[in-house]
Amino acid sequence: MRGFAKIQFKKLSYPPILKEYEIKKILLLLAILAVGFGVYQLSRIKDEQGMELVNETGQNTALVSVILPEQFSENAKIGKRIFEAKCASCHGQNAEGQKGIAPPLIHKYYEPSHHGNESIQRAVALGVTAHHWPFGNMPPVEGLTRGDVSTIISYVRELQRANGIN
Ligand code: HEC
Repeated sequence: MRGFAKIQFKKLSYPPILKEYEIKKILLLLAILAVGFGVYQLSRIKDEQGMELVNETGQNTALVSVILPEQFSENAKIGKRIFEAKCASCHGQNAEGQKGIAPPLIHKYYEPSHHGNESIQRAVALGVTAHHWPFGNMPPVEGLTRGDVSTIISYVRELQRANGIN
């Protein structure tokens, strides 16, 4: 009688699904799923617009597609040349950004009202601590006067306007 009561007690307190090893199995499975999901997310770092910031295919490295204006002002033409020499290696030929390297400047973050000309001057002179993007810091760019940078600003603003960023 005693033995029977013992068996019944065991059956009641450990329904099969709650057996300790089953719980462990379930937790292990959940942990594997969570880690897998995390790795998947990390490999596809995107900003809130769904931009793919990491170059997965090794082909198209541009972060946005940039429409070129029909023509640039004289100032912007000078800025374009300086931009190509000093900025394009990171920000891309037409400031379209490069996956894994640097953001596009043709982006609403950098519209004049949110990111005035003085903050562009400051970015070039002092560098930028990474804050908007996962690309790391921008080092200061040597060898440019404020005048040089103001021509770059004309160039970037004209490109932005051609792309509806005012
Ligand atoms: C070595 C690569 C590199 C070069 C060269 C470079 N940049 Fe950058 N730049 C970056 C990165 C990376 C960021 C993004 C920082 C962040 O996360 O906000 C950035 C951000 C910026 C910003 C945004 C600053 C802010 O306050 O948010 C401006 C404007 C900018 N760059 C302009 C320029 C100009 C103009 C040049 C050329 C004179 C230039 N950059 C050259 C890498 C570079």
